[in-house]
Amino acid sequence: MKKIVVFTGAGISAESGIKTFRDADGLWEEYKISEVATPEAWYKNPAMVQDFYNKRRKQVMEALPNKAHYALAELEKHFDVQIITQNIDDLHERAGSKNVLHLHGEIMKARSSTYEKLIYPVKNGIISMGDKCEKGFQLRPHVVWFGEEVPNMEIAYKMVSKADIFIIIGTSLSVYPAAGLIYYTPKKSKVYLIDPQGKNIDTIENLEIIKEKAGTGVPALVEHLINSKKTTSRL
Ligand code: OAD
Repeated sequence: MKKIVVFTGAGISAESGIKTFRDADGLWEEYKISEVATPEAWYKNPAMVQDFYNKRRKQVMEALPNKAHYALAELEKHFDVQIITQNIDDLHERAGSKNVLHLHGEIMKARSSTYEKLIYPVKNGIISMGDKCEKGFQLRPHVVWFGEEVPNMEIAYKMVSKADIFIIIGTSLSVYPAAGLIYYTPKKSKVYLIDPQGKNIDTIENLEIIKEKAGTGVPALVEHLINSKKTTSRL
């Protein structure tokens, strides 16, 4: 069975009502990264960082998966699909996708600020200052901040290097190391990029750019891939 690796960014959740980061009305227009999304911010003003992520979590809990998330879950019924997402929301999982690797963490989880392996679900949607892990240390959001390592990169590189088809959806490809994943695609693989801004990536040969929103572009591509599989298997 063909292996399809899907790499998603904030754009896939935009039509679910979750703001992207770098579009005109994006989150980084409203907040300074250095004040809410770095270890230094956490040391300086943990309550403010906590509050920022509590607001993000509330938005995620109010959001619903959209047609793009559901189409990818459908794709899994026909191909060996691995999703690698930069998103901290859980909309892929809620749409029914089983194989989801989060590069930048998961907003619906909390972890110990000292023992990073101690991870817990966030029960009522809020992490408060004073909420502690079982060893007595403050809980923080289970997300990757700027300046922190991305622990899942190695496993993601391996996944991408085995892709027959690589689909990139709704990302500005501006944050590394995540954006560097695209360079691990085998030369023979077909690569699709679905993004209204869809800029060309010179180094990728078999690239098809679909300048559409995820909500229309992803279901159409999924339908095309499923139909092509049916046609090929009939030959
Ligand atoms: P960006 O905000 O940088 O880029 C969002 C992309 O989504 C842009 O290329 C838009 O054109 C596209 N887009 C907007 N609406 C769309 C739609 N309806 N359908 C499809 N695409 C759409 O977001 P990311 O690339 O995901 O990291 O950002 C990467 C990382 O930067 C995030 O994971 C986060 C952020 O800072 C951390 O916080 C560590």
